[in-house]
Amino acid sequence: MSNDVVNITRRRVLTAATTLVGAVGAVGVAVPFVGSWNPSAKARAAGAPVKANIGKIEPGQMITVEWRGKPVYIVRRTREALDGLAKTVDLVRDPESTTPQQPDYAKNQYRSIKDEFLILVGLCTHLGCAPMYRPDVGAVDLGGSDWQGGFFCPCHGSKFDLAGRVFKGVPAPINLEVPKHIYESDSVVVIGEDQGA
Ligand code: FES
Repeated sequence: MSNDVVNITRRRVLTAATTLVGAVGAVGVAVPFVGSWNPSAKARAAGAPVKANIGKIEPGQMITVEWRGKPVYIVRRTREALDGLAKTVDLVRDPESTTPQQPDYAKNQYRSIKDEFLILVGLCTHLGCAPMYRPDVGAVDLGGSDWQGGFFCPCHGSKFDLAGRVFKGVPAPINLEVPKHIYESDSVVVIGEDQGA
């Protein structure tokens, strides 16, 4: 083989390798959280746990993953958002989340294992619509100065704070569900199982 042919062949190999790396990188960016660890669609529908990468969620940002065909919201709360929960205690129906069938780690002011991360099933406890994430403190359409950020259900107007606690006087009867979950590492959470599983 002449030198020219060898050089062209090498160039093709390098181009192919670069393209492959580029494609993997692009997938990583496009689907940063619901990633390759997850089981097949069939297994998910049957209720298998799913893993979510929470390492890249910015403070104040929410991502959604799917578990058992339901949306699961994962919010990284800011310090201000956590402080705001003290201001909604008197406005919500069940501030300590005493509803049965909640994991123990949902029965506190933050309703979470780690203060920073809120993990909720994204289905309204009234009739199952998907509440919208509304972190905008003071939103005039949601109560003005009483609104410390939270979730608003567009179907019949239920409101929840940034711990998923339902406000008094709305159709939804109970707080948003905290699914079973466990932290596999600082950046990976497993939805659908916990230490009791
Ligand atoms: S389904 Fe959310 S308020 Fe009715």
